[in-house]
Formats: sequence, structure tokens, C-alpha cells
Amino acid sequence: MRTTVGWRADGPVTTLRRASLERRDLRPDDIAVRVDHCGVCHTDLHAVRSHREPGASVVPGHEFTGVVTETGSEVTRFAAGDPVAVGNIVDACGECAMCRAGQENFCHAFPTLTYGGTDRHDGSTTLGAYSREYVVRDRFAHRLPAGLDPAAAAPLLCAGVTVWEPLSALGVGPGTRVAVAGLGGLGHLAVKLAVALGAETTVISRSAGKAGDARRLGAHDVLVSTDPDRMAAARDRFDVVIDTIPAAHDLGPYLRLVAMDGTLTLVGHLGQVTLEAMDLLVGRKKLSSAGSGGRPGTAALLDFCAEHGVAADIELLPSARVNEALDRLERNDVRYRFVLDLSDLS
Ligand SMILES: NC(=O)c1ccc[n+]([C@@H]2O[C@H](COP(=O)([O-])OP(=O)(O)OC[C@H]3O[C@@H](n4cnc5c(N)ncnc54)[C@H](OP(=O)(O)O)[C@@H]3O)[C@@H](O)[C@H]2O)c1
Ligand SMILES: [Zn+2]
Ligand SMILES: [Zn+2]
Repeated sequence: MRTTVGWRADGPVTTLRRASLERRDLRPDDIAVRVDHCGVCHTDLHAVRSHREPGASVVPGHEFTGVVTETGSEVTRFAAGDPVAVGNIVDACGECAMCRAGQENFCHAFPTLTYGGTDRHDGSTTLGAYSREYVVRDRFAHRLPAGLDPAAAAPLLCAGVTVWEPLSALGVGPGTRVAVAGLGGLGHLAVKLAVALGAETTVISRSAGKAGDARRLGAHDVLVSTDPDRMAAARDRFDVVIDTIPAAHDLGPYLRLVAMDGTLTLVGHLGQVTLEAMDLLVGRKKLSSAGSGGRPGTAALLDFCAEHGVAADIELLPSARVNEALDRLERNDVRYRFVLDLSDLS
């Protein structure tokens, strides 16, 4: 084992404390990465604040960039010094139909999550990238394209790819009318990507307070979800609605915005939903979901972002301020992604 330093929540405690962590020795197909930047995803907040048994702990962090420091004996794709990016999947079975199709995120044997997952070889619980070092199977690291800022690119690896896969799968491009509900980490990247793909893009937010930002991000229109008249006037208006809202909510108002044969895609709150079938029936509407990305999709996203200059709008903080970042994220006080600078752990 090798040791590193990171930020961990132990037992019932819902804040992170600096802790010494163990990483495995490199397997032949592993690389060791010095983590330089890690985004703060709302999922990390859910994980830190959720109930834990005494003795259980979590080290969050699943969208990061850094530099390769060591390679396992069989690694040929990377060498020490290469800039890399890693998302929220660090392994998968490699054999099932989903893995063979390059959708390791949907692996039938369940992908190994970057934190809180179970390592396929030694059964240990994975520890995330709020830490100075991560050891990862080389297949699940991506080369960071030149031209992408490593700090602003980190959120592409979870927030970005989670909205990219449905945008691509639904064929979003010029002529598509897209709406994005919730202008946060996922939402602002969904807006930038939809705009870069050529779609006519609208932000749906709870207040008009983010309208200026929405337009600066490239959105063509803003709809305030708490204004029933405007919501009613926007009935059947969008081919695709990407819903990034992080809490349980009624889908009815959002389904009513979807055009005939259009799709509402839930990527935010993942849990039970209640649905009035008539909201689907009238207009032959579709409901879908998505999460994370496969290896080819993630690589395509990184190339697209490098080509189109898309990255997150970030607030970069030393990692010692991680609890402040989580508190502010909880209060919706972030524009639009916190990224931790892990160099203060050296
Ligand atoms: N499917 C996946 O694989 C995947 C991947 C990553 C994250 N997630 C989940 O996606 C969700 C969003 O993550 P994020 O990092 O983008 O979060 P975030 O930065 O907090 O953004 C969420 C946005 O939703 C709106 N919102 C917040 N609370 C709301 C509420 N109670 N009701 C209605 N709208 C609300 C806010 O936008 P406005 O101020 O504009 O209203 C907020 O900025 C989280 O639940 C996260 O766990 C899923
Ligand atoms: Zn995430
Ligand atoms: Zn599989």
C-alpha cells in the first residue's frame, strides 16, 4: 500500500476532515495520478450529508484532472508527466453487451464507482479524488486534450459527460429546441454544450436572478419556473428538456413543456418519480434518464470541448476550504462549479 492525504467524512459526521489515506500498489494496468483539480459535484454533497453507520466513511470526488506520476508494467497508453482526466467510473466488467458497446457506465455487472464503489479485485471500498493521489486502471483515464484548462475541465468528467450523452443520443443540433432545468453545475454545462451543438437553448430557473448569466452562457431565452403564466405559454415548446434538479419534484410542469414526440431527460435527482400518464399521452412524449458516460463518449466530449472551447465556469478554492464549498453548494451559492486545488495537500 501507498499513502496519500485527502478529505474524509467519518461515521455520522457530515463534514470533511483531513486524513491520511491508503492507495493500492500499482497493478500492471494501473497508473498513479497526482490529483491537481477536482470538481465539487452535488452528488458529493449528497454523499457527505447522507446517513453513515459508525465506522463507515466517505472520501468524495469523481471529476478530476492531474498528471501521471507512475505507470504499471503493462501500461502503454500513458507515461509519467501526461495530463489526464478521470470521471466517476474507474472500472467495469469489460465483457457484457454494454461494455462491448462502449457504455461502461451501464455495465450489467455495475461499474466500479470512483468513490463508494467496490474494487473488482480486492473488494475494498473506493476512495474519491478529494485527495492528492488516485490510482486508476489506465483504461478509465483520458488524456486531457491540449488547450483545455485543467481546472475548468475537471467538471466535464462528471457534470459534463452526464449531460453530453443524452444531448448526443437525442441528436441535438441546429434546429433542436432544448431547455435545461436548473442552472447549476450540470445545467450550465448542458447550456454551453447545447449552444455549441447549434441548438436553440432555453434555461429554466426558479428565479430571474440567473437570467443575465444564462444569456452570457449562450442561452437564447430564460423561463422562470415559478411563473405559471410563462410556463403555460411555453407549453409543447421544446424537443428536449434536460432536468438537472437535485431534489424530488413533480414532473408534470416539465413534461408539459415538451413538444410532440419530444423527450424529458432526468439527470438530476435519481429516485422514485410519480407520473401522470396523461402528461406523456398527450403529445406522445418520452421520459428518459442518463448518467455518467462510457469511455468513447467521454473521449468524444473532451475532443468536442477542446475544439469548441467549452469548459466549466468555476470558482477555484484551496482544498482546505472544501467544507465551505459544500455549504455554499447546499445554499445554491455557486456560479457554477467549485473546483478544489489539491496542491495544498502536498
Ligand atoms: N445522473 C448522473 O449520473 C448524475 C451525475 C452528476 C450529478 N447528478 C445529480 O444531478 C443533480 C444536480 O447536480 P449539480 O452538481 O448540477 O447540482 P447544483 O450545482 O446544485 O445545481 C442544481 C440546480 O438545480 C436548481 N435547484 C436546486 N435545488 C432545487 C430544488 N429544490 N428545486 C428546484 N430546483 C432546484 C438550481 O438551479 P436554479 O437556481 O436555476 O433553479 C441549482 O443550481 C444532483 O442531484 C446530482 O446528484 C447526477
Ligand atoms: Zn458527479
Ligand atoms: Zn460490463
